[in-house]
Amino acid sequence: MPGDSTSEPAAVRSQRLDLVLSMRTATPADSAVVHALYEHNPQYFDIISIPLPTTDEVATELAAAARDERRVIELVCAPELTGVELDPRLRDRDGPGWVVGYLDYKLDYPEVGDATVNLLLIHRAARERGVGRNVVQQLEERLSGRVNRLLASIYGRNLAARRFWEGLGYRYAIDARPVVEWYGKTLL
Ligand SMILES: CC(C)(COP(=O)(O)OP(=O)(O)OC[C@H]1O[C@@H](n2cnc3c(N)ncnc32)[C@H](O)[C@@H]1OP(=O)(O)O)[C@@H](O)C(=O)NCCC(=O)NCCS
Repeated sequence: MPGDSTSEPAAVRSQRLDLVLSMRTATPADSAVVHALYEHNPQYFDIISIPLPTTDEVATELAAAARDERRVIELVCAPELTGVELDPRLRDRDGPGWVVGYLDYKLDYPEVGDATVNLLLIHRAARERGVGRNVVQQLEERLSGRVNRLLASIYGRNLAARRFWEGLGYRYAIDARPVVEWYGKTLL
């Protein structure tokens, strides 16, 4: 069935929207699609008080991640969203679907045995449908057994992000306010 990747190990079905999500590693060749995703979600950059990164800056970031064996940047891909016309620049160059999210995390950070999500960004057209929750659940499953504690760093005054992570069972863990707060959860 087109767009049906349930046999893929990385795929997970969203309970709320019945979407099949898949994740793939981002490379510098994905800088345009990541930049397009950022352009459609400028509010996040307002919250953290930084200008929207340029395509070149995104490429530099993706290249830095590719060189860092502990840093992982993944794209969240989904088939067509019913009733939503997405920017053609968000079409996944590596598969039949669309890029609807970005996940950036680092292993053994801040301590050995930890992992920290630096950014989870879901396209606003795909929000509040369970996509973010499913991405985190999928990450927890993948890291379980090799990571003791998964953390999320929340920059700026981002109340929505706090509610999101708290709703997934993450609790206040490290205080580095006013710049960043860390929420964490022990993985079994
Ligand atoms: C935070 C974010 C990732 C959530 O993604 P999402 O796909 O909309 O989240 P989900 O639909 O999976 O929601 C999961 C839970 O979080 C809650 N939640 C999501 N967004 C929320 C918001 N703005 N305010 C309060 N609760 C929220 C949902 O109610 C849901 O709870 P439920 O499952 O009990 O109903 C998304 O809003 C986003 O990309 N924000 C911009 C980037 C950002 O701030 N990232 C967080 C810093 S790492």
